[in-house]
Amino acid sequence: MSRPVYDSTVVRVEATGERFSYLNNANGDWLCVDDSGVLTTQSYVNDAAIWRVDGAGFSHAVADISIGATSTEIEHTTQLTLVGDAVSSGGRTGEAADFMVNHGPERLPSEYLAELREKGWVSLTCILSPSVVDDLQRIGCVDDYENESPERVNPIVHPAMTKVTVEPISLWIMREYMQTRDVKLGHPPGVSALTRDDGKREVQGWHTDFPYLWGTGDRVPLPSGDLVLGMQRNTCISEFTQENGATIFKLGSHASNAAPPDEWGITNHTFRRGYRAEHGLPYGGPDTDVIVAPAGSMVLYDSRTWHRAGVNNTDRKRGAMIQAFIPGFIIPFMDTSNMYKMFLESDTADQLTARDCKELDNLMVHKIMGPAGLFAITTDDDLTKRVRDQMASA
Ligand SMILES: [Fe+2]
Repeated sequence: MSRPVYDSTVVRVEATGERFSYLNNANGDWLCVDDSGVLTTQSYVNDAAIWRVDGAGFSHAVADISIGATSTEIEHTTQLTLVGDAVSSGGRTGEAADFMVNHGPERLPSEYLAELREKGWVSLTCILSPSVVDDLQRIGCVDDYENESPERVNPIVHPAMTKVTVEPISLWIMREYMQTRDVKLGHPPGVSALTRDDGKREVQGWHTDFPYLWGTGDRVPLPSGDLVLGMQRNTCISEFTQENGATIFKLGSHASNAAPPDEWGITNHTFRRGYRAEHGLPYGGPDTDVIVAPAGSMVLYDSRTWHRAGVNNTDRKRGAMIQAFIPGFIIPFMDTSNMYKMFLESDTADQLTARDCKELDNLMVHKIMGPAGLFAITTDDDLTKRVRDQMASA
């Protein structure tokens, strides 16, 4: 018995056209105003690091501070003045330093965090700069680049891959929401391109994401309550539409701390050969939500949120970066160390700030600190062969 293909509630997130700015020094740190109202720099983005263009300079989004600027143009350098005195790279007045004006968010970081805590998901709409989105579309061979062939290099060597991976507001929000500074990637970053559905291929069913995987492996044995073991960040490289396969959610279902219902078609069942021919697509009826968002947006959600992939009913490929984030005490889903070593062996770091590189290192090197000292954790080829042989002979 086939289920109806689509009757989801469409949740449309749209660009407001408003835009804050970041002001970054040469190290990549953010010019900010500290709690006592003093201009300084910091290594992360919260409300203290948010500026708006104000005439020929910038005014702080929260604090009562305005600064002069030689330029307010995005992705251009500028020199800043505070009450006529030059601003140095550390934020104090002194020797004039170059800052980069960068593409900031539409809203304050604290507003996004409050919405995530209330709803279990939030859209950072058009959070990526148009130049990064264009680079990602080129890497993924989607949108204007869909007739091009993928390059035979690992995508990690492209600076845009690091820039999107270390996007600062999503990381600050995830650290706050998971209540730990030690946040890691659950798998290596990559760009996916969803092609037109053929009406036959087996599809992903309803599930929760890593590490819970309820509905697709059931990895975490009990509800974790206030302890958040994972967050997901879906980056729209192409615009996400209902027609091109935007993810289908049951928004708010993270609060149930439970698996999606079997009768909706869970991944444990839908990937079985012949399932689709017999049952059709997994449930997509009125109890579900599809988030439609412009390219360059990031949708963050609690990994316990029930969802499934949409299907692409258009002839255009739809690009996305789907990333799982976990606290450092969770074992990752896939090894990230080999891809990170490829990054280190390339000259990509020369095109990034020291801050971007440090953050990528934070996210991709899994560590253990124990009585014997500090170690980086990775997979072991010899033991991998051994366990695979054991499984094959079992
Ligand atoms: Fe998922």
